[in-house]
Amino acid sequence: MDIKTMPNVHVLDHPLLLHKISQIRKVTTQTNEFRQLVKEIAVIEGLEAFRELPTKNVTIQTPLEETVEPVIEPDSLCFVPILRAGLGMVDGLLELIPGAHVGHIGMYRNEETHQPVEYFCKLPKNIADLDVYLIDPMLATGGSAIDAVEALRKRGVKKLHFLCIIAAPEGVEAFEEKYPDVPLYIGALDRQLNENAYICPGLGDAGDRIFGTIQ
Ligand code: PRP
Ligand code: URA
Repeated sequence: MDIKTMPNVHVLDHPLLLHKISQIRKVTTQTNEFRQLVKEIAVIEGLEAFRELPTKNVTIQTPLEETVEPVIEPDSLCFVPILRAGLGMVDGLLELIPGAHVGHIGMYRNEETHQPVEYFCKLPKNIADLDVYLIDPMLATGGSAIDAVEALRKRGVKKLHFLCIIAAPEGVEAFEEKYPDVPLYIGALDRQLNENAYICPGLGDAGDRIFGTIQ
């Protein structure tokens, strides 16, 4: 099935988002600018993903009269970055919804097998009742995202979404096969993985570029 026709896969196309993704791809973009752009990209992706948020009507008082108006419920939301690179997107989302909860899942890919290894998981106690947005800039083989969804499902999470900046077709297909019910928001869909399971053209190692740990 063509990825762009998968019902729960949203490949975003806002020109400003595409422009900023082009900037983070550049090998010359340094850590400070990279980090700032990732945050701004998260804001734009958040605006797209949060279109689906439910609203409830509450009574408020304007300077002129009482009126019934829609509001969201920040307390019902949780952002869960996959460490490390997902951390780069948290502040952007919190700028949009400062009252959301934040949980953390730590995963790293074994460099030889490319399999994800979970090393940390700290989530709000009521995570099962929250609307969870799992975030990671890169969806490569899909292994980290799939394991993180599994970890959240195991803890009772029912409402789940995944936001990434760049995805490889291989990762989207693997994720969709496992979790076709989880909406996937993608900034850019790239060509393919290389032999080291890096996304091409991609941007390199997102965690290293956000945290300046490139050797
Ligand atoms: C990167 C990225 C994802 C993962 C994607 O993390 O941030 O978590 O790789 O690859 P996958 O889809 O093949 O699992 P990495 O393992 O480099 O860890 P880091 O963020 O700590 O650098
Ligand atoms: N993780 C990254 O940070 N980049 C890739 O291209 C693949 C996995």
